[in-house]
Amino acid sequence: MNKRCFVTGVAGFIGSNLAQRLVDDGLEVLGLDCFTDCYARGTKEANLDRLRGESRFEFIEGDLVRIVLEPILKDVGWVFHQAAQAGVRASWGDFFHTYSDNNILGTQHLLETIRGLGASSGGSVERIVYASSSSIYGEVEEGKTTEDATPCPISPYGVSKLAGEQLGYLYWRQFGLPIISLRYFTVYGPRQRPDMAFNRFIEALLDDGEIEIYGDGEQTRDFTFISDAIDANLAAVKEGKDGNVYNIGGGERASINRVVDILEEVSNRKVRRKFLDQQAGDVRHTWADISRAAKDFGFSPKVGLMDGIRQQYEWQQRRRWNGNQQGIAEDSGLSQVQRSASTA
Ligand code: NAD
Ligand code: UGA
Repeated sequence: MNKRCFVTGVAGFIGSNLAQRLVDDGLEVLGLDCFTDCYARGTKEANLDRLRGESRFEFIEGDLVRIVLEPILKDVGWVFHQAAQAGVRASWGDFFHTYSDNNILGTQHLLETIRGLGASSGGSVERIVYASSSSIYGEVEEGKTTEDATPCPISPYGVSKLAGEQLGYLYWRQFGLPIISLRYFTVYGPRQRPDMAFNRFIEALLDDGEIEIYGDGEQTRDFTFISDAIDANLAAVKEGKDGNVYNIGGGERASINRVVDILEEVSNRKVRRKFLDQQAGDVRHTWADISRAAKDFGFSPKVGLMDGIRQQYEWQQRRRWNGNQQGIAEDSGLSQVQRSASTA
């Protein structure tokens, strides 16, 4: 592929790690982000710091919902659509408009523009990868969930992600846009969003404070390390089948209580656990059946939970020692991600 890649949400956790991998692989990347205020701009700027020094990387600050995309998409071959308002538990109430704007309108605008560039061919666009989410499933049956399970989200966030995914399906079915969706299962690792469990737990641990657990801590997640999520993007963009959805899970499902046990082991510290009410919108269990992704593009997660948690713990620890945003960038997740991928 000798055209540019376009990464939306490039300043975020997954987008910045993905863009760095693409650049490191020798590809040209155009990244878009508008620095939504779901967490500090400084943290996102730090995610971009190394990328901004790359000759093969260009950044555009802009809002996907409103920006004129035609000139941006000129000469773009692969589109990785990561931009979204991403928290599950904050999606209730008046704040939902940020979810509907960024996750639904933004996606529709992107797809409609690509369609306008040349109907079935999407102009120069060869493939679009949409960042979908395990949250589209809602409460699931015992055992692993396949892509054939009926989506039934239980959070407004999940509804908005499913709407984006369904829009992608529509534009494929009706106009032949070459889109596939990756349903990521709770991604973690260096640069993880500050509202997410591991990030919050590690900060509490480093503060010698209490870890707040929602519910009884026996809820489980199929946690996915960032480099595995990125491997999935790179394989899917080349070999995924248009119009398909794929589960992307880490393969090692664990309860939140188990995660805290691992964190104690990794950090060699004992923590205080404070149990709070279960949060509206949180599903009880997730567990990905990844056989479709394995079959179609050879997806096979490589980083186990203990190793991945250690990498995230060490990254947050180093970020503290460095004590400033420059430190975050210098000690960015990328080297970790690259290392884990290349040694796997
Ligand atoms: P993130 O918040 O770190 O990154 C998203 C980025 O998108 C942010 O930098 C934000 O500023 C940007 N953005 C949002 N709306 C925008 C708009 N209208 N225009 C331009 N930029 C915009 O989140 P993340 O954890 O990296 O998630 C990335 C994607 O993966 C999201 O689509 C999310 O729904 C999906 N996802 C994430 C996880 C996970 O565990 N992190 C799991 C499943 C799905
Ligand atoms: C994560 C991402 O945040 C979503 O963007 C994504 O769409 C979703 O995964 C997905 O897989 O689709 P979530 O699974 O809620 O959502 O991830 P965390 O925020 O890391 O929470 C994991 C579990 O820890 C949840 O049960 C939550 O209730 C619990 N938790 C979280 C706590 O007990 N305490 C906290 O301080 C934070």
